[in-house]
Amino acid sequence: MLDIKIVKTDKPKAKPQGPLGFGKIFTDHMFVMNYTEGKGWHDPRVVPFADFTLSPAAMVFHYGQEMFEGLKAYRGADGKSYLFRPDMNAKRANRSNERLCIPLIPEEDFVQAVKTVVKVDEDWIPTEAGTSLYIRPFIIATDPFLGVKPSETYLFVIILSPSGAYYESGLAPVGIWIEDDFVRAVRGGVGFTKTGGNYAASLAAQVKAHDSGYSQVLWLDGVERKYIEEVGAMNIFFKIDGKIVTPMLNGSILPGITRDSVLHLCRHWGLPTEERKISVDELIAAQKSGALEEVFGTGTAAVISPVGKLRFKDEVMQIGDGNIGPVSQRLYDTVTGIQTGVLPDEFGWRTTVE
Ligand code: PLP
Ligand code: COI
Repeated sequence: MLDIKIVKTDKPKAKPQGPLGFGKIFTDHMFVMNYTEGKGWHDPRVVPFADFTLSPAAMVFHYGQEMFEGLKAYRGADGKSYLFRPDMNAKRANRSNERLCIPLIPEEDFVQAVKTVVKVDEDWIPTEAGTSLYIRPFIIATDPFLGVKPSETYLFVIILSPSGAYYESGLAPVGIWIEDDFVRAVRGGVGFTKTGGNYAASLAAQVKAHDSGYSQVLWLDGVERKYIEEVGAMNIFFKIDGKIVTPMLNGSILPGITRDSVLHLCRHWGLPTEERKISVDELIAAQKSGALEEVFGTGTAAVISPVGKLRFKDEVMQIGDGNIGPVSQRLYDTVTGIQTGVLPDEFGWRTTVE
């Protein structure tokens, strides 16, 4: 159990009015904890949200030794604040840490830190439908040193951002660009971790996709460039011939917590599910034959995001009739219902911030 010191701001900011957007507004406080080799993690504290001072030589700036997580706090109709499966974020954080030679954080400490800072800024959790408090834990390497090796000092920080839909279009289906030139990750690399470099590597394709009118990039595998992996900020699902199909976890894609929850729900509902390799050729053929019934992405920020159009080279595949499909809608309603306390928590996924 961490002994977290709390220092409250004497200059609370005005709460946002009007549309929140995603990740633009930050609350009054943040959680900070230091790591020093030989001493371990120390000085856990909640302090006023403020800029950092770091050496320009800090290792994170040069070699990108950092990891991040993403989860949300929701305000229930009962006035309580809820988190969704934060233990899964804590576990995934440590899988990222292990791969990136960052010291691990005990899972219960990670969850305690999240709960503590959320509780301090609880009145920042927005209440309008489709909004939540996005929680961004991250760790950066802080040694002022230009040699390539694991840092001996780190900062673990949690910031909070009241947010609305990740995509400006909200629940309207988005267009996705299947990238045929750049790749994001390969097995044996860091694709399964949440680390900044994966997102830096994705930007060139994202700019290309945006310039052509698409919202996000769908990556193919880095070796054969043939099999579907995931989207820039979400995992991807297809409904093909009545089956819910998603790429299997293979080391190069992020094991999404929403992905896991969606698979669980579909199985619970008796829908056939498959985690396997899906080639882009299979998708094109399924779309042509009418077997491709729905496509949706899953993610903390993206929730359940219907996909209305997929482009691969010269092929533009229209999915459905331009509206959210029935399975996508049912998943959206169920996942958000559990998250916000509207539906019963049958699987023990919700935890209260106290
Ligand atoms: N894939 C990538 C690359 C992501 O950044 C995210 C977002 O966290 C996801 C998938 C979805 O993961 P989760 O459902 O845990 O948010
Ligand atoms: C999340 O959904 O939490 C993510 O980290 C996606 C992010 C790139 C916005």
